[in-house]
Amino acid sequence: MLLALESSCDETSVAVIHDGRVLANVVSSQIKLHAEYGGVVPELATREHLRNLLPVATAALKQAGSQPAELAAIAATLGPGLPQALMIGARAAQAIAFALRKPFFGIHHHEAHLYSPWIANEVTGPAPRGSSLRADFLSFQPNVSLIVSGGHSLLVFVEAERKHHLLGGTVDDAAGECFDKVAKLIGLPYPGGPELDALAEQGDPRAFDFPRPMIRDLHDDFSFSGLKTSVRYFLRDQPFILDDPERVRDLCASVRAAIVDVLVTKTVRAAKRLGVKCVTASGGVTCNRALRQQLAEACVQQGLVLRLADKSICTDNAAMIGLLAERKLLHRVASTALDEEVHPNWPLVPVTPLPGTPIIHRV
Ligand code: KG4
Ligand code: ZN
Repeated sequence: MLLALESSCDETSVAVIHDGRVLANVVSSQIKLHAEYGGVVPELATREHLRNLLPVATAALKQAGSQPAELAAIAATLGPGLPQALMIGARAAQAIAFALRKPFFGIHHHEAHLYSPWIANEVTGPAPRGSSLRADFLSFQPNVSLIVSGGHSLLVFVEAERKHHLLGGTVDDAAGECFDKVAKLIGLPYPGGPELDALAEQGDPRAFDFPRPMIRDLHDDFSFSGLKTSVRYFLRDQPFILDDPERVRDLCASVRAAIVDVLVTKTVRAAKRLGVKCVTASGGVTCNRALRQQLAEACVQQGLVLRLADKSICTDNAAMIGLLAERKLLHRVASTALDEEVHPNWPLVPVTPLPGTPIIHRV
């Protein structure tokens, strides 16, 4: 049995994992706290993690019906993320590991995201409690994985378990950040992504033509800040649009279509180029209805298997941290030092090189 802590941004989460099963996954979100400021305030996030971590951990252990003495290992996100926020979870996990004399695993947040599309529900109930790592997750490697949230937009080639290569990332704003900033321009409350998505459902995606940045470029990087700027100029020139609810819905649908087009086109193209048979997606933006639907359609067209993280597990959670840590334990990967520092800018470096790619360095 393994205890996992996640505190890299604005979710305090603790999970208990046993044999690939999620016995508990308690998430305390700070969205309401940060809404007043229109974005995550690092100092407030840190204070909330400090306040919430022990109650969340106690609740997770109670839900799982497990005692600290039963734990075989402790894990926490070491990065990337907000430095002080990471420190709360990591130091707590290291202290618990020290007290229980158990190994500690410092986990890369993005590597953990690669596991969330494979967490499937077995029982009804507050998902993802009662879920487990799908037995077939090893059969669908290699795959191409899209990780899209408020902080990152990444395309990853998963060659095999724990052998991954970062294909591309955002050169400026992340996809979720673009959703949130455009929503703010429209006057929607933070975080605007889900609000914009809901309005877009009733709008016409062809009403306005917004740029699809880098969609034709052959590399796997993304850029979304230009799209946000074009919406800003669009609204500067036609501010009256905001007075017409129908036009606002059309605007939301058109912006959503531009973002989703880029994400789907580049993900599927990378999958075809690399000859994989499976595409996966996770991160908060994967809750987006158009992204889920268009990825599904594109994958059917291209003969690709698609594994989307369940909506309940798209956003940050400790279950994905714990499942990866348990796999490391199983494969006898060396544990992490109890005084290892957090890595706020930890890159997702290749564990093995892609053919023809120089090794950058090893983790
Ligand atoms: O993974 P996450 O909870 O946190 C990190 O940023 O790490 O992702 C949150 C992001 C926010 O930008 C939010 O607006 C976006 O995911 N998001 C959505 C939707 N639901 C959440 N964006 C578009 N459509 C949605 N339905
Ligand atoms: Zn995340």
